[in-house]
Amino acid sequence: MQSDASDVTGSFWTNRQRQASSLHEVPYRACFKPPQLPKFFIERYSSPGDTVFDPFSGRGTTAVEAALLLRTPISNDTNPLSEILTRPRLEPPGLDEVARRLSSITVDYGARAGIDLSMFYHPPRTEAEVVSLRDYLMERRESGKEDRVDRWIRMVATTRLTGGHSSGFFSVYSLPPNQAASPEEQERINRRLGGQEPEYRDVKKIVLRKSASLLRDVSPEVLERLSAVSGKARFTSDDSRDLVSVGDGTVDLTVTSPPFINLVDYAKDNWMRLWFNCIDAGEVKGGRITVLSDLGSWKSFISATMRELFRITKPGGYVAFEVGETRKADLKEIVRECGTEAGLEHVVTYINVQRFTKTSHIWGVENNRLGTNTNRIVLFRRPAHS
Ligand SMILES: C[S@@+](CC[C@H](N)C(=O)[O-])C[C@H]1O[C@@H](n2cnc3c(N)ncnc32)[C@H](O)[C@@H]1O
Repeated sequence: MQSDASDVTGSFWTNRQRQASSLHEVPYRACFKPPQLPKFFIERYSSPGDTVFDPFSGRGTTAVEAALLLRTPISNDTNPLSEILTRPRLEPPGLDEVARRLSSITVDYGARAGIDLSMFYHPPRTEAEVVSLRDYLMERRESGKEDRVDRWIRMVATTRLTGGHSSGFFSVYSLPPNQAASPEEQERINRRLGGQEPEYRDVKKIVLRKSASLLRDVSPEVLERLSAVSGKARFTSDDSRDLVSVGDGTVDLTVTSPPFINLVDYAKDNWMRLWFNCIDAGEVKGGRITVLSDLGSWKSFISATMRELFRITKPGGYVAFEVGETRKADLKEIVRECGTEAGLEHVVTYINVQRFTKTSHIWGVENNRLGTNTNRIVLFRRPAHS
């Protein structure tokens, strides 16, 4: 471990050191890698029963880890998919319940999407199975009958709509599951791959197989922990600059990773997930998910968020804020400045360096190269008498 006055560099968490729970294995763009990162801060800077917050919750890595460690999570994100992906993993059903529910869902093999999905799904069978599942889930939600088993199936299906190289997805080979290709892009992918055509995929079987994989670490003890906190967990969708649903001085610890400086088009990336969940893309477009294209606007966004984090943190409580990297500026110093201007006290900046071996097969030869993954987390405390 190396350190100067305020930075410490070392291997504080790695994805090998104690396997992360299988419950985390849900794809989401720019999620915490690895889940041991929030775990490290939750274990060190909070106690069981404390409230742990993430204003940019995404797939809910902080919330799930907090619940596994008996803390009460508040999971906030302006993306409506965030709660859909997070809540079910705090109240997981048994695999037998999932199997029974799936077999009770009627598939109408005449059902069609109303939009052309033939470039993704085997027409008519896979498409009919996807549409029938969507219709079933919509009907359950609208009639107020949706329960945790339905929410679980909705979460799993949402992550299986499209994906790369495996028969674990409903679609033909496509982009990674967190970045849906548009129909035109998918047509291009199909042409590039020598005219690939969607094969039949058994939707219920894929949902059940992924459920088994997600639930493989959910022992009776884990279930007991989750059920002790899931009733108290809260899901909010405030803008991080105006956290109206979170009271003054109510949070013990925040562990978070803000949007990066880039031009990710969330509505486009998520169009298939939004369609499946019957969510109007306008909810995602209209500026609810902040897209920051330059350093100046990123800095004002972080400053406004820090002022809110100061307000909601208990005196003596902590904020762990992850920052990405860019050659143009030292973002951790910018974050440190924004936090201290908001009244928080800088405790330390963790620079975690994780080495791993990348194995690639090139022309049949195994090639081992060393890669590194670096995370920077700026840790603040709200002064005890503030
Ligand atoms: C880097 S991702 C966080 C990923 C998360 N740590 C995880 O493990 O999945 C940033 C998140 O910020 C959300 N977001 C963007 N603008 C926001 C805003 N103004 N207020 C709250 N959430 C916002 C995005 O929807 C996205 O989920």
